[in-house]
Amino acid sequence: MVGALESTIIAVANQKGGVAKTTTSVNLAALLAAAGKRVLLLDMDPQGGCAVCLGMNTTTMERSIYDALVKPNVQISEVLVPTDFQFDLAPANIDLAGAEIELKQALAAETVLQRKLKPVLNSYDYVVIDTPPSLGILTVNSLTAANKVLIPISAEYMALRGLRMLLDTLENVREVTNPGLAIMGILATRYDGRTINSREVYEYLREFCKREGIHLFPQVIKQSVRFAEAPGYQTPLALWRKEVDGAKQYQKVAEEVINGKV
Ligand SMILES: Nc1ncnc2c1ncn2[C@@H]1O[C@H](COP(=O)(O)OP(=O)(O)OP(=O)(O)O)[C@@H](O)[C@H]1O
Ligand SMILES: [Mg+2]
Repeated sequence: MVGALESTIIAVANQKGGVAKTTTSVNLAALLAAAGKRVLLLDMDPQGGCAVCLGMNTTTMERSIYDALVKPNVQISEVLVPTDFQFDLAPANIDLAGAEIELKQALAAETVLQRKLKPVLNSYDYVVIDTPPSLGILTVNSLTAANKVLIPISAEYMALRGLRMLLDTLENVREVTNPGLAIMGILATRYDGRTINSREVYEYLREFCKREGIHLFPQVIKQSVRFAEAPGYQTPLALWRKEVDGAKQYQKVAEEVINGKV
């Protein structure tokens, strides 16, 4: 008997700010969708960066992921919005900051997203979850709902601090709420090959991943001003300027994800 096709739920997580979680989530979702996959991009960050990158206004949205998380009668299907890029978005806005407190009072607070996500999983091959720069309840919900976690790390010394804490959190989640959670890999971002710093950090990551048995994506994402420009054009870079290096690099990452090597 052929088993039911299961969705791959990827949490893009790192409690350090500015390491390209949102950039990675948006570009990966766009490229998976462009490859014909059915994709949901789910924003679990009150900063609402996913919608911003896609040119959508979060302040005028009637509903957001916040409503689905804290209101028992609101389903995720009711907060989804189609994007111009053949995938759906569960948008977030600043309301979600309140969920940090409200969720703490919920029963089995860590599993709210997992439970809410279940009914829509049949509709998607991939769910990509963008998480906030913290290890609070919103990130723990994301890690509990996911079956894989992709860890972007910007190639600088400061970004390595906290990696151990993140891995401990993943271990904790595995023990308590989600034994099936696997690390998809570490993705080096904002890599500047001209600097010794970036190269040393990458070498360190290579050693570290080997020692820990963690996949390190062979494709690095290089530092490029194009990434900061892209949101201004309201299109993920990988679709807006397919010919630029950054787009090609994310394409390689998306191919590795689709080929199921990770
Ligand atoms: N490869 C890159 N080269 C240069 N700039 C980049 C690159 N990737 C992302 N950026 C820029 O770095 C900034 C932070 O990126 P992003 O918002 O994706 O990080 P984040 O981890 O989601 O941040 P936060 O923790 O605040 O959610 C943005 O201005 C983005 O455009
Ligand atoms: Mg972000």
